[in-house]
Amino acid sequence: MSDRFPVPDRVRHGASGPIPDLATHRELSARAIANPSGFWLDEAKVRLAWHTEPTLGLKGSFHDIQEGPISWFGDGVLNVTESCLDRHLDSRGEKVAILWEGDEPNEIRRITYRELHAEVCRTANALQELGVKRGERVILYMGMVPEAAIAMLACARLGAIHSVVFGGFSAEALRDRIRDCGAQVVITQDEGRRGGRSVPLKAVTDAALEGERGVEKVLVFRRTGGEIDWTEGRDVWWHEAVGEASATHQAVPVGAEDPLFILYTSGSTGRPKGVVHTCAGYLVWTSFTHEAVFDLREGDVYACVADVGWITGHSYIVYGPLCNGATTLMFESTPLYPDAGRYWDMVERHRINILYTAPTAIRALAAAGDAFVEKYDRSSLRVLGTVGEPINPDAWKWYARTVGEGRCAVVDTWWQTETGGHMITPVAPAIAAKPGSATLPLPGVMPVLLDERDRVIHGPGEGRLCLEMPWPGMARTVWGDHARYVSTYFGLFPGRYFTGDGCRRDDDGYYWITGRVDDVINVSGHRMGTAEFEAALNSVEEVAEAAVVGFPHPIKGQGVYAYVVLQPGFSGSVELEAAMNKTCRAQIGAHAKVDLFQVVPGLPKTRSGKVMRRILRKVAEGEPEKLGDVSTLADPSVVQAIVEGARTL
Ligand code: WTA
Repeated sequence: MSDRFPVPDRVRHGASGPIPDLATHRELSARAIANPSGFWLDEAKVRLAWHTEPTLGLKGSFHDIQEGPISWFGDGVLNVTESCLDRHLDSRGEKVAILWEGDEPNEIRRITYRELHAEVCRTANALQELGVKRGERVILYMGMVPEAAIAMLACARLGAIHSVVFGGFSAEALRDRIRDCGAQVVITQDEGRRGGRSVPLKAVTDAALEGERGVEKVLVFRRTGGEIDWTEGRDVWWHEAVGEASATHQAVPVGAEDPLFILYTSGSTGRPKGVVHTCAGYLVWTSFTHEAVFDLREGDVYACVADVGWITGHSYIVYGPLCNGATTLMFESTPLYPDAGRYWDMVERHRINILYTAPTAIRALAAAGDAFVEKYDRSSLRVLGTVGEPINPDAWKWYARTVGEGRCAVVDTWWQTETGGHMITPVAPAIAAKPGSATLPLPGVMPVLLDERDRVIHGPGEGRLCLEMPWPGMARTVWGDHARYVSTYFGLFPGRYFTGDGCRRDDDGYYWITGRVDDVINVSGHRMGTAEFEAALNSVEEVAEAAVVGFPHPIKGQGVYAYVVLQPGFSGSVELEAAMNKTCRAQIGAHAKVDLFQVVPGLPKTRSGKVMRRILRKVAEGEPEKLGDVSTLADPSVVQAIVEGARTL
């Protein structure tokens, strides 16, 4: 029996969102399954501002996905920024839209909906001057400044497609993304600030663009005033271009299914994929889930401390909250700067009602000791969210009890870049929680578990998690490669979307995500492909061959374990490990670091030459006794060497 945490009184009372209680949850779930088109059309009409209201709901199915993308609200015409900005001007013009907390606790900016609207219009005009048109791609390589959100919205205002690249990615990774989507304009800033340090965003952009011809203009926001190189004719200062532009701009009407953005994410093979989200369905999904799951109330201060470089920042800092007319906090710093009390200090100063963070931060803060939490007044908190990886019950309980003092709902939201928004999650006022469980699917979400023989599991059980039915927020395709989209998500189980996650369903029908079952590793909530690490390591001169797997890490969730076979004549050393990590950093980014290296005489391979990752995972997980059958290996003796030389933290 696992613990059950009922909905706290202060969350139950006064709930005003679309799912205020369990009965409504059940009723909406039944309606959304029975008539998805009708259900989501109704939501789309009330949630979004339209130029032409849609009459069509869902078109297409998972069974004919290879024919072309799914479509929702296909005959609707809109511009998402009118739902996020213009529509609020009469009722909420003077309400704070973006509350920015800079790297230093005393750096605060408050931008009202009226001001945000004006800034987005100015920026749209400036981008138009730089030649950005509907359907073109713009890369954003920025830190957590309001201008990042403004730039996203300005692109959307023009019907252009933004692709935000997380500010930790390296020049090479940035260049790959610029090329893949064919961007002509890059928006960056002189430097970012994080944890008291500067991040050289413009310098990395310059390196990424060296020798590239496609990018014509680089718009540079001045954040720190630090010294940067300048390319005449290409580089343009934000304050000059945007500052001089007009604050009125007619939003460009686009189709509901026009792409809104591309976001690159790691998969189990090859280079990162450009996941494409479209305008209307994505906004309906993020707005509905943001309001329902967090039980958003009009006066709330809502704080999601993710980075706009990841999907959580797109959906739950920018699009969902702004569509809902919320006050959304943007946080430039880290949970540990200047010390482990930073979040709770912010909660007290801004009277935050809803806080959304990641298990890795929760574990790190719990380890820092309760004194950092108790020092501050957290009485404003009502809902605590978590996302990005499975949360262990101890961390969950610490969050609920120590941070939330038992008064707050904890929502463990399971979703993915590809799903656009929450899928399996407690709805704060409606669903009793169990620590470590993402609980129940949202209305319109149909999870299914498949066993090792690909059969559907009914009732309690554990298997691979798939989704049965299209939902409005789902990614439509992979940029420029629909076949890759089809094979990645629908190849293994035709007719079903495969999530890549393992999952258990208990007697109450609650879902427990067990983690990725493919070759994606999730380090501190950062999703990375083992293939990306392997490509980087293989490019190191001394390395003959490498295989990378994840292993359980007490704070980061997963750590990175690399098995390397060296070229003849070389042996492992601290210097070589440092060199290998330097290469990972250069090719992937600052967040890509191998935690444990093991030099091995060979990799365990089948006779056909396929690396048996199962064996490598078990050894890295510290469970060599569970290796199973190794008789099919070409050379079983390498296994013994691998087991004997296993490394631990
Ligand atoms: C994992 C982040 C357990 C999962 C929004 C998924 C989770 C991957 C949870 C997607 C959760 C996310 N419980 N695991 N609440 N939330 N995950 O695309 O493995 O960066 O497939 O999207 O994170 O990561 P992504």
